[in-house]
Amino acid sequence: MLLEGKIAAASINEFLKREVSVLLESGKRPPHLAAILVGEDGASKTYVASKIKNCAEIGFKSSLINLHEKTDINELLSVIQTLNQDTGVDGILVQLPLPNHIDEQKIIEAISPDKDVDGFHPVNAGKLVQGLASFIPATPYGIMLMLEHYNIETKGKHAVVIGRSNIVGRPISILLSGNSNPGNCTVTICHSHTRNLVELCQHADIIVAALGKPEFVKADMVKNGAIVIDVGITRVPDASKKSGFALKGDVDYASVAPKCSFITPVPGGVGPMTIAALMKNTF
Ligand code: GUN
Repeated sequence: MLLEGKIAAASINEFLKREVSVLLESGKRPPHLAAILVGEDGASKTYVASKIKNCAEIGFKSSLINLHEKTDINELLSVIQTLNQDTGVDGILVQLPLPNHIDEQKIIEAISPDKDVDGFHPVNAGKLVQGLASFIPATPYGIMLMLEHYNIETKGKHAVVIGRSNIVGRPISILLSGNSNPGNCTVTICHSHTRNLVELCQHADIIVAALGKPEFVKADMVKNGAIVIDVGITRVPDASKKSGFALKGDVDYASVAPKCSFITPVPGGVGPMTIAALMKNTF
């Protein structure tokens, strides 16, 4: 069965739209997300544009701050300081990756943890590890919301997460292993130094592919009936497309899908859920 992020995200968006009207009826203002984009990276521009568009669709206020590729770190820090202090701004996100001359960690740590809707600040990451209320990074949060939307039983299952990034792999491994529903999985995190990755995947009830290598997960790595969550979304050159590129997931969908009980498509799977989760955090 296909896990259609588009459909699950639409129901979250409908819920948030109604919540915004309740806020407005009680005389309050709508939630306000401020997004900062540094430079001209094509994929980042598309992602930020989708986030801003989604805000408009559900009645959130948004501000897009476009900064030049050569923006110096102090200028970026001062924009963040202003947004931190602005009581009219609820959520702040700085789209990653940043240009090489900017230290990403310094930027992440400059955002007030109370407005850190990406959940990347060490305070929020630490709270997540301890099972305390916190902002949960949007992609892993979106995956959990999708599992919940489709009522997928995860308790006691063996989940193999491929990738250990702070944005996806690490936090989803914590969420899936948590004492929650969805959750209560036994989790194995694989990375570039994992020796028996193929064998581990073959024993997985759930595979979360978040390594950023197009079509890495092949049919022979997947057990019959497995649940496969594809987080990858890489632009690969494709002359037959108007844009000049095609979007590829980390899973070889054509060969893997027939073996799965559930699988997410790319695009239209995890992507829309990530944005819906960001909206929930901002709300
Ligand atoms: N780059 C890739 N994913 C994300 C995300 O969830 N948030 C931000 N800010 N940048 C990203």
